[in-house]
Amino acid sequence: MARRVLLQLDADPQPSTFDAIVAVDAGVDVLLRHGGVTPESAVPLVHGGMFTRGGKDLASTAIFVGGSDVLAAEAIFRQVQKTFFGPVRVGVMLDPSGANTTAAAAVVVAARHADLGQSKAVVLGGSGPVGRRVVRLLAREGCAVGVASRSVSRAEAVCEAVSAEVAEAQLQAVETSGDTGILPRGRLLELLREADVVVAAGAAGVRLLGSHGLAECRRARVFVDLNAVPPEGLEGIQASDAGRVLSAEIPGNEPPAVAYGALGVGGVKMKIHREAVQQIFTSNSACLDAEEMLEIGRTVS
Ligand SMILES: NC(=O)c1ccc[n+]([C@@H]2O[C@H](COP(=O)([O-])OP(=O)(O)OC[C@H]3O[C@@H](n4cnc5c(N)ncnc54)[C@H](OP(=O)(O)O)[C@@H]3O)[C@@H](O)[C@H]2O)c1
Repeated sequence: MARRVLLQLDADPQPSTFDAIVAVDAGVDVLLRHGGVTPESAVPLVHGGMFTRGGKDLASTAIFVGGSDVLAAEAIFRQVQKTFFGPVRVGVMLDPSGANTTAAAAVVVAARHADLGQSKAVVLGGSGPVGRRVVRLLAREGCAVGVASRSVSRAEAVCEAVSAEVAEAQLQAVETSGDTGILPRGRLLELLREADVVVAAGAAGVRLLGSHGLAECRRARVFVDLNAVPPEGLEGIQASDAGRVLSAEIPGNEPPAVAYGALGVGGVKMKIHREAVQQIFTSNSACLDAEEMLEIGRTVS
């Protein structure tokens, strides 16, 4: 079999070392790292990957698209797919800033404790790259999702974008006050009281819900906090939590909900990331976005 060659196309000036190391750990033989990639400059790089090998050997070349600018990476991902034609294509995956693998992992752990097709969820920090993917994946599962942001117009923009991709999506934009020292109010409080699943996808080191707010989540089955940097995104949920039962935190919550922190989710995320890299070498038609990573997550976790 031909050696496995991965083209790492990264929108940042310096391609991610994290993604490079995961690629090596996933068994890539030769890693070609390109930084500062744009949709235009991606075309000759993709041609180089498409036209060098034929037959079965073509599947031993694949492309990883990443970078910290999610919109820029998405534009490269689209261009890569437009550059392929007929059977002349190679496996490709998109994971800018780990957003797809992290969102998939969050939904995988939530699904262990809630029937997502029958559930209601609130995604705090729903306007960020990870949050909006969590919203999209939950919506595809049939979950009704409250999308929370400090700006209702940003939350509405996410709802609109996700609805354009998921026709059956049941979404509601909701504004947060940004002040976690007080009890949430209004529609946010109602949504938290009804939620089976609460995901915090806020920026690193930002608290999105205080302990008073958490205590209002009386129907909750599972909390997922993706922020690893103190203070916790959801007060009281530790980064290392991986299914810890919250026995005293929420009065009347029976059976008690469970909690996952960033490191608890991170193990699943890493498994998804490594398996996704392996899968783009299984077929030259493999094309992995968040939905395909969720499928991978269901099998590897
Ligand atoms: N465990 C893992 O493996 C892993 C991997 C990747 C990322 N992550 C974590 O996942 C989380 C989400 O990542 P991301 O890249 O999507 O985050 P992000 O873009 O940095 O932030 C997400 C949202 O947080 C809100 N926010 C920002 N600053 C805030 C503040 N001061 N107060 C309240 N809200 C604030 C913003 O929403 P609004 O302005 O609309 O309110 C923003 O859209 C991060 O904590 C990141 O570290 C974890």
